[in-house]
Amino acid sequence: QKFEPIAKSQLKKVTKLWKDDQKKQVARRKKEDEDAAKRAAALEEAAKVSITEDPSLPAASLMKILEGVQHRDKRIKVNGWVHRLRRQGKNMMFVVLRDGTGFLQCVLTDLLCQTVDALTLSTEATVCLYGTLMQVPEGKQAPGGHELQVDYWQVVGSSPAGGADAQINKDAHPDVQLDKRHLLIRGENSSKVLKLRSLLMKAFTDHYFSRGYQWMSPPALVQTQCEGGSTLFDLNFFGEKAYLTQSSQLYLETCLPSFGDVFCIEQSYRAEQSRTRRHVACYTHIEAECAFIDFSQLLDKIEDLVCDVVERVLANPEGAQMVKDLNPEFVTPTRPFKRMKYSEAIQYLEDNDIRKDDGSLYTFGEDIPEMPERKMTDAIGCPILLHSFPASIKAFYMQKLPGDSRLTESVDLLMPSVGEIVGGSMRMDNYEELMEAYKREGLDPKPYYWYTDQRVYGSAPHGGYGLGLERFLCWLSNTHHIRDACLYPRFVGRCTP
Ligand code: 4AD
Ligand code: MG
Repeated sequence: QKFEPIAKSQLKKVTKLWKDDQKKQVARRKKEDEDAAKRAAALEEAAKVSITEDPSLPAASLMKILEGVQHRDKRIKVNGWVHRLRRQGKNMMFVVLRDGTGFLQCVLTDLLCQTVDALTLSTEATVCLYGTLMQVPEGKQAPGGHELQVDYWQVVGSSPAGGADAQINKDAHPDVQLDKRHLLIRGENSSKVLKLRSLLMKAFTDHYFSRGYQWMSPPALVQTQCEGGSTLFDLNFFGEKAYLTQSSQLYLETCLPSFGDVFCIEQSYRAEQSRTRRHVACYTHIEAECAFIDFSQLLDKIEDLVCDVVERVLANPEGAQMVKDLNPEFVTPTRPFKRMKYSEAIQYLEDNDIRKDDGSLYTFGEDIPEMPERKMTDAIGCPILLHSFPASIKAFYMQKLPGDSRLTESVDLLMPSVGEIVGGSMRMDNYEELMEAYKREGLDPKPYYWYTDQRVYGSAPHGGYGLGLERFLCWLSNTHHIRDACLYPRFVGRCTP
């Protein structure tokens, strides 16, 4: 027998539960109907209310929220998105307006909050508000220290009931948050990180111009690899094989003879299979190249870049405030940065018992992966210029260390909590050596003819580096995941929005 008849007491209990539930459902439906009727009546009532701009008032001048202080006590007009909305009784409505330059508290009273537009207003709708900008009384808080007393307003574009909050909130699944990133970036925290990113990009360009660099724009579609074949995205370029660039370095090197020191800010593409918190498939790469320098000068330049850019961001009051909000614990790194040889790092891992998953130790010649690198950097707790890596684990173009051809004049800048943010090196400037390097890597020298030519037409000692903007931003803003430092992150399985 598959089923046993239910016991009488059990049946009674279950029946009661079912009946209670039915009753509850009926009550809920009744409440919903009542609410809908109330709402319909309210809307019908609201339809009779219309508002017009009072022609006797002074003409309103258009302003952005950021310009509030200059407009105090005057009649203004401001456009924006409804960031927050609170209704208080029938005659009062508070709107926090957002226009990208800031937030503005606005008060709507009486008829202004009794129209159909007012009743159906949701967050994220766009509005145009007219009114007088008043300083808030002592002790009252409002963004900018003032409040707009609205005397007339219009809806520009409506938003569905519930606004964006109905779609996403901070507890939403990460995939949902990513699908709705176009709405998420309207939030205070996400937008703050991206605004800091904007200031940061300005600081980088200001740094380079102040140091006499020229800004170059190398192509994204290329036929050469720079950082190994395993992370190349290939594509069909009018029937020819091409790739998305992994780095603009090789092109920057060709600019040295015409422009001197050069830099670029371009997207680099990496077909990274790993989904770590510091890898994306497409990132903003800040690269620079300098001729007639030696390795030690290259390290100085990287140190100067990082310190000067931080100083520039913090010298800007808005930048300083954003860093303070996002990363209250942030301390500007002090010069000189700790310099550490690759061989010393291998020794450090051994001394501190940082081992591989299988329990064995890292040995000279092996790549130091992300985990041990981070453990070491976090323990040391300050920026480290880790240098002189073995040639076998580094890119083909790197100059050998004078006196030890096993090693290269290469450097990674490691930052606590993020790890590697800069990778750089001196470049091979000898023709024969470069031809040998192509061979060793199994690269056909043909597509690299223009790169090789730099060693034919007036070669020079030179070096440069690439800095991952998103990783730098993570470090500066204490952002845990690199995806939050990208406007629209790209990684395995994610190419939208
Ligand atoms: O160390 P990488 O691969 O070095 C180069 O591409 C050199 N050609 C740069 C040069 O010398 N001009 O990359 C440089 C930096 C890394 O230190 C890291 O900050 C960032 O680029 N980076 C990435 N950032 C996010 N996602 C990825 N998948 C990244 N790969 C590299
Ligand atoms: Mg690297």
